Amino acid sequence: KEESTLSITVVGASGDLAKKKIFPALFALFYEDWLPENFTVFGYARTKLNDEELRNMISGTLTCRVNQRFSTLPDLSFPIPHDLNADTREHLQGKLPHTAKPSYLKNFELPIEAVLHMYSCGTRNENRLHFNLLAGKVSNRLFYLSIPPNIFVDVVRSVSLRASSLNGWTRVIVEKPFGRDSESSGELTRCLKQYLTEDQIFRIDHYLGKELVENLSVLRFSNLVFEPLWSRDYIRNVQLIFSEDFGTEGRGGYFDNYGIIRDIMQNHLLQILALFAMETPVSLDAEDVRNEKVKVLRSMKPLKLGDVIVGQYKGHSKSGKSYPAYTDDPTVPKGSLTPTFAAAALFINNARWDGVPFLMKAGKALHTRRAEVRVQFRHVPGNLYKRNFGTDLDMATNELVLRVQPDEAIYLRINNKVPGLGMRLDRSDLNLLYSARYPREIPDAYERLLLDAIAGERRLFIRSDELDAAWALFTPMLKELEEKKIVPELYPHGSRGPVGAHYLAAKYNVRWGDLGGDDS
Ligand code: BG6
Repeated sequence: KEESTLSITVVGASGDLAKKKIFPALFALFYEDWLPENFTVFGYARTKLNDEELRNMISGTLTCRVNQRFSTLPDLSFPIPHDLNADTREHLQGKLPHTAKPSYLKNFELPIEAVLHMYSCGTRNENRLHFNLLAGKVSNRLFYLSIPPNIFVDVVRSVSLRASSLNGWTRVIVEKPFGRDSESSGELTRCLKQYLTEDQIFRIDHYLGKELVENLSVLRFSNLVFEPLWSRDYIRNVQLIFSEDFGTEGRGGYFDNYGIIRDIMQNHLLQILALFAMETPVSLDAEDVRNEKVKVLRSMKPLKLGDVIVGQYKGHSKSGKSYPAYTDDPTVPKGSLTPTFAAAALFINNARWDGVPFLMKAGKALHTRRAEVRVQFRHVPGNLYKRNFGTDLDMATNELVLRVQPDEAIYLRINNKVPGLGMRLDRSDLNLLYSARYPREIPDAYERLLLDAIAGERRLFIRSDELDAAWALFTPMLKELEEKKIVPELYPHGSRGPVGAHYLAAKYNVRWGDLGGDDS
């Protein structure tokens, strides 16, 4: 077995994402034995924290599924990693009293090399990122950049010039925002490529790591019953819906500069759309899959302002409790026009999808938290049973729903005879509810993506030409929206969103499927 070490450095270790997602995911991977034998995790933060504070902070948010089993684990020791030069080792030795045990790792014993080792210091101090090699060992280094975009390039420069591995690989995971339009995104790519090759850059879109999103291709390409229907001949419209039942809560500073279209649509929903609509790839190789996704994106017409509606949540009180408006967030400028809700209609100009509306809807502070894909099929031509539904013709169409979260499920709405005498039809679901069929907990998206980055599997990461194509679709509309200072339609915090979304759908003869009422 090759002697290699893996160090994972989370830059931005005190940030929200690191606390809520990255550390818990790393820990779950470690706990379930997915990480290589010799690994070290470093946390690198701008906030002044000592090790104890950093550990405590992380322990407070370790909400991953392994958390509940901590109490059964044996004792922990903190050996200093081999993968360091003498100075840094000494520095760390002084810094990390062996007695300091993070509360979440209490009573936890790791194999001697597999160290979960947290370490904090100032981001700008490049020397601290300078690890040297242990003679003879292949040292692989993964850097997770969970930091604001204005310091991306500085950190990447440090990684490349001061901390790259000389005999193993060095990879960098970057999180959005990848710019705010075509120009800034292009500029960022150009800067990153001064220091890293495309192969070293892992642009994360965590929706691609979600179980149901991964399953989308399995559903299509390994079941004969779906793929033949996957076109304009049978599909009337496709809906990609994202809603959250909470507002920006403390993230207003970031959010106000981006808005919901950049935060959710241009990446998460568009990625699902590309996977949904792509042609069969030559193979499951990263390049083959990504080639097909890029083709879809490049076949789409840039969004027109007339095909978008925007909203923003306003304050609301219900049963004696009051919910704040977006602009009540102290980090949001008064009078901000940033949309917290948007709906859009997109079209793919190719033989398969010509004329089929792909409707997106995304919003914060709505009545529910949900992400789903809804596929509405055409009417059955000359349906014999039309009358048995009463007047609601829409009832007669089938709908396939992939509920990405929560309560992962795939269900197909079919027309069915209500048992009994007479002939009355209703809509029923053929329902694959994951919790019933697969009781095992579903790994978090970040677990899958981190593991892929370690394995060098790029299929679920965004290639730079994909990113360019995604921005090309949204940039002209976003510019127009901002130049014309379009005022968002206000909707109450906790509501179903602005009515404009219904007008937009009606323009294309579509009814939002999530308002059917009978799915919880
Ligand atoms: C992030 C957005 O990419 O996704 C957030 O920046 C959003 O605004 C989050 O809340 C939603 O992710 P999830 O996995 O909780 O649906």
